[in-house]
Amino acid sequence: MASTHQVTIITQDNESLSFDCRSDEDVITAAVRQDIYLMSSCREGGCATCKGFCADGDYILGKCSSQALPYEEEEAGQVLLCRCYPSTNIEVEVPYTYERISFSPEGLVFAAQIVELAQISSNVMKLQLQRTGDDKQVKFDSGQFFDLEIPGTSSTRSYSPANTTNKQGDLEFLIRIVDGGKFSEFLKKDATVGQSINVKGPSGIFGLKENGFTPRYFIAGGTGLAPILSMVRRMKEWDEPQKCVIYFGVNTEAEIFHLAELDLLAASMPTLELRNCVWKCSDDWHCEKGSVVDILRRDLLATGVKPDIYLCGPPGMVDATFAVCAEMGISKERIYLEKFLPSGS
Ligand SMILES: Cc1cc2nc3c(=O)[nH]c(=O)nc-3n(C[C@H](O)[C@H](O)[C@H](O)COP(=O)(O)OP(=O)(O)OC[C@H]3O[C@@H](n4cnc5c(N)ncnc54)[C@H](O)[C@@H]3O)c2cc1C
Ligand code: FES
Repeated sequence: MASTHQVTIITQDNESLSFDCRSDEDVITAAVRQDIYLMSSCREGGCATCKGFCADGDYILGKCSSQALPYEEEEAGQVLLCRCYPSTNIEVEVPYTYERISFSPEGLVFAAQIVELAQISSNVMKLQLQRTGDDKQVKFDSGQFFDLEIPGTSSTRSYSPANTTNKQGDLEFLIRIVDGGKFSEFLKKDATVGQSINVKGPSGIFGLKENGFTPRYFIAGGTGLAPILSMVRRMKEWDEPQKCVIYFGVNTEAEIFHLAELDLLAASMPTLELRNCVWKCSDDWHCEKGSVVDILRRDLLATGVKPDIYLCGPPGMVDATFAVCAEMGISKERIYLEKFLPSGS
């Protein structure tokens, strides 16, 4: 028979809240049942949005993706709360502040309309949405993401806006088209300007960290540019003085996009430098030749600067960046990371 235990959540700002959880339900489901909306997205152990550290108590962990919760993290007490079934009272530390917890579903889900849909490179589409209804505001911290529902289904996919929080209701998404992918196929075949889409969010903890005047280096692979662009655009809005460099990498020239947008940003932001890198490029390619990681390594060696690193891209690029940073004496704690994990992986 199922027993009931108390879950205590401790937030980054040392606030706490407690609720009941049956041993046969996961922590996220139990919280929602009691109108507590902790950070979560896929709710099937695939995206790592609900990750926390269990400081006390015992639990059973359901099936999780090894990308979302690597073995070493599981061994060290990290848990995915959407897969965590308490067998005693438990205490879990989460890496976000109390204000990120919502106590009503309203405000989390809203309708938006497609206002622009464009193929912007061989494998990337731009999806521009505008929130509909009386309250147009879209509030989020740069680096966070939203879940978009495929119309006519209950399937959702996570995407990070490339623009910044605003009152007009604008959301700009940069979406890599994956062959046979559900959202990708919807965008290619069925999506039309004027169509309505349900949006849930924001979620996630990727974002700018206050660290004095330390330079910020942003490393983006493909559509990993979206949250990075949002953060750098935010820095511009706030007139932040730190030097920043965007390392934007793709495999071929046909895959590059948003060069005009990046140039525009750099022209209005004297603190920003761009490194647009194409790995397999022709002799005519006018920017950086090689992988973002090679170019990053070259710059770090040449300048001796030890910046904060903001990283979003495919797993190979993420691993290679960690290796270069280790070689250059930049500690793991200075690397802030978002992984675009496939849903349900
Ligand atoms: C927090 C978060 C933020 C994200 N933000 C963005 C974003 O801004 N832009 C963006 O393009 N994507 C982003 N993603 C990825 C996105 O949510 C989808 O996973 C992706 O677009 C594929 O969705 P789909 O429905 O087209 O394919 P699915 O139907 O989910 O997958 C179809 C097949 O393709 C595989 N697959 C899916 N994604 C990949 C991949 N990246 N590489 C290799 N194989 C894959 C799947 O394993 C599956 O076999 C984000 C993911 C997360 C977790
Ligand atoms: S919400 Fe738990 S892993 Fe995605």
